[in-house]
Amino acid sequence: MAYSHSSHPTTGSIRVPEPVSSAAGPNAVQNPLPRATAAETAQILAEVELPTVAKGPIIRRPRVVAAVERFGLEARAVKWMQAVAEKYGKGPLMLKVPGRNMALVLDPEHVHRILEESPEPFAPAETLKRHALKHFEPKVALVSHGSERRRRRQVNEEALDHGHPIHRMAEQFMPAVRQEAAALLREVDAAGGRLDYSAYFAAWFRMVNRVVLGDSYRDDDELLELMETQRARGNWAFLRPVDTEARQQIPDRIQQAIDRAEPGSIAAFMGQQDYQAEDAPEQQVPQWLFAFDPAGMASYRGLALLASHPDRLQSARLQITEQAAETAPTLPLLRATVLESLRLWATTPMLLRETTREVEFEHGVMPRGTSVLIFTPFFHRDERNLDFAHRFVPEVGDHERTREEWPLVPFSAGPGICPGRHLVLLLTSTFMAELLAERQIEVTSHQLVPGELPALLNNFSLEFALS
Ligand code: HEM
Repeated sequence: MAYSHSSHPTTGSIRVPEPVSSAAGPNAVQNPLPRATAAETAQILAEVELPTVAKGPIIRRPRVVAAVERFGLEARAVKWMQAVAEKYGKGPLMLKVPGRNMALVLDPEHVHRILEESPEPFAPAETLKRHALKHFEPKVALVSHGSERRRRRQVNEEALDHGHPIHRMAEQFMPAVRQEAAALLREVDAAGGRLDYSAYFAAWFRMVNRVVLGDSYRDDDELLELMETQRARGNWAFLRPVDTEARQQIPDRIQQAIDRAEPGSIAAFMGQQDYQAEDAPEQQVPQWLFAFDPAGMASYRGLALLASHPDRLQSARLQITEQAAETAPTLPLLRATVLESLRLWATTPMLLRETTREVEFEHGVMPRGTSVLIFTPFFHRDERNLDFAHRFVPEVGDHERTREEWPLVPFSAGPGICPGRHLVLLLTSTFMAELLAERQIEVTSHQLVPGELPALLNNFSLEFALS
């Protein structure tokens, strides 16, 4: 596989300012970054930002996802970004949005830099994100700053065992994984071998509820529904008022689970910690329940990748058999499949940061308070620089160097990297293994052509036949 690291040529009528000399003390006024015109900004927002927002950044709207897939809007968004990068070179490109500083990241090195330099001067607590998440988790680490962020990030890292591919409680999670996958297979058999997303999603969340909250929460649809209602409000960010009464029910129910501390759950681990009030542990858990939704999508799409690549499926099966006796198997190929699923069909396509002060780039200064937009599909699916852009290449998922050199960042990177990523890969890979171990699988809803994978794969309409 090949990936080049060329910076894009600068063409068009825009003059790229000379590099900044720090001795002169330039600022964003004297030495601005290149700026898109109002018409270009409108077009960029319509082509790139709108499909992401319309699909539902916090909870997906299935009908919009179907339309975006049908009209190929994701591929168009990447093409647009390529055209913008051809014209503006390294950027970052300031957009002309009334009342708000926004910048689009165009250069792979800038992606690394911005993610590494979080939370200062590139804070994860970006304004739009804060407005979206305040509907169900106003004190989550992701929208906290300063010492609060540090403490809350630590709560997440400890509970999710962030540094370890195999969570310290993995063995305790496995019965839930095996039993819920087996229950799903029984449902599939009863449906004549048909597997659809709603059945998968329900089984996945029965497992998630058990792992996070405890076995007695297996069928707790109420918390899930509460979350879904508030997430739907979150899709509208500041355009909808916060329903404070409904919102408060979420941490209250989570606190109950922490107090109950059912053995084998992450809630039990949390129940043993000595938290301070500002740690707000009960406000970190909603982020997990929210984020296990895209994890379900990614694994479900991963099944489609394997079903349409029989040689990979065979290797994955071999690995499943080899590790069958292990209490918490590592299943590298299945993990890499999930990473590839996320590279190809990012579930967090827009990484957002906000500058806490002016920041110098090679071609100008970014003002304080700028929302910085990293549109990951532009990097993940860039066929100009990645010869595997539209193929399923699980070796890439496993390939640290590739990720370090070229931004493959489905879980973000740097100090703000997703602390749940290893747990996600553990639970997705083991759940998938249970489904694949003894079944043949075929995609019945879509035609996936190995060399030309689509820009979006609608998980809601994706169906399989299992035999
Ligand atoms: C496929 C599934 C997932 C993906 C693709 C994903 C991706 C991400 C990304 C890109 C971020 C950074 C967001 C930003 O900077 O704006 C993030 C943050 C975070 N994720 Fe995940 N995530 C997933 C699942 C999970 C799960 C299941 C958990 C918990 C069990 C989790 C916990 C978190 C937390 C706590 C943060 C905030 C970290 C911070 O504030 O520094 N994620 N995730």
